[in-house]
Amino acid sequence: MTDTSQLQAETLATIAAATTPEALESVRVAAMGKQGSITALLKTLGGMSPDERAVNGPAFNGLRETVTAALAARKAALDEAALNAKLAAEQQDMTLPVALPASGSIHPVSQVMDELAEIFADLGFAVASGPEIEDDWHNFSALNIPESHPARAMHDTFYIAQSPPDAKLVLRTHTSPVQIRTMMSQKPPIRIIAPGRVYRSDSDATHTPMFHQIEGLVIDKGITLAHLRWTLETFIKAFFEVDDVVLRFRPSYFPFTEPSVEVDVGYNSKTGKPAGAGQVDKWLEVLGSGMVHPRVIEACGLDPNEWQGFAFGTGVDRLAMLKYGLTDLRAFFDGDIKWLKHNGFSAFDLPSISAGAVS
Ligand code: PHE
Repeated sequence: MTDTSQLQAETLATIAAATTPEALESVRVAAMGKQGSITALLKTLGGMSPDERAVNGPAFNGLRETVTAALAARKAALDEAALNAKLAAEQQDMTLPVALPASGSIHPVSQVMDELAEIFADLGFAVASGPEIEDDWHNFSALNIPESHPARAMHDTFYIAQSPPDAKLVLRTHTSPVQIRTMMSQKPPIRIIAPGRVYRSDSDATHTPMFHQIEGLVIDKGITLAHLRWTLETFIKAFFEVDDVVLRFRPSYFPFTEPSVEVDVGYNSKTGKPAGAGQVDKWLEVLGSGMVHPRVIEACGLDPNEWQGFAFGTGVDRLAMLKYGLTDLRAFFDGDIKWLKHNGFSAFDLPSISAGAVS
């Protein structure tokens, strides 16, 4: 009996002293395992007389139950302590600001192209495109700019050295060749815009060798200069979001339009932005336009007595500079991340200027 209570006291003491689940497991094996002290004690019951067994049986089994319960209790306590330690170590401060993933931005040129496409979509214009490496015929001849024409020199053309002799390839100097490609490939009525890159050998604060234009072309029956004027006014008002924007239509010259018209936007030199009547103290040329020359219509295989139309071409980069108050054109193409972050647009934030553009 004394043996039993001593063994119990010793075992309970080692259980209490175990500070890790691994230490406790060794204690369990030492007491209750196959070779364990309590297991050995229980085995002695088999060799006892019925009387001895009647006395020792309950005592031994009581010991076993007490130790089993003590092991379970200690294990639960150790598990809980381990869990609490883990929770404390892995604590998260939910009030800390979240580190957002770096996000890109929409380049002002792309933004303005999207805005223009949206405005012209509302006016019923589809988007057309053509190659940036263009042949001489589409870029010049078909647009009524023959070989010896001085306008060719004005364009500061980049020629492709290894052109096939019959094609004479150039980097297109304007988006006007898309007029030709569209008239050759689809039947009128035509209403398209053609945004894209164009190239001229020119470089300073307001000129880069590559820049962007948007061409517009309408071919139908009975189209007049009045349609041209209304279309341009509607688009410029919507684009600049200035309802009383002031435009100046000046007679001009392009070989592929007759008559030709250049359009200036009135703006305020203090704000650097397009302004309404009364605030205008400066003019900025924003586009060239005119009625498509009958020779151009003819070159595309259409009868100029049946089909007329108007065309216009405008510099996207210049429109972006004017609308968003950007001053150096060269910064557009430097690819400076800081500049792009500051002047770019969120992809989720495209202003829907088409709302209310056409009324
Ligand atoms: N292609 C002309 C330019 O680049 C602009 C223009 C287009 C003028 C269409 C009239 C009609 O300067």
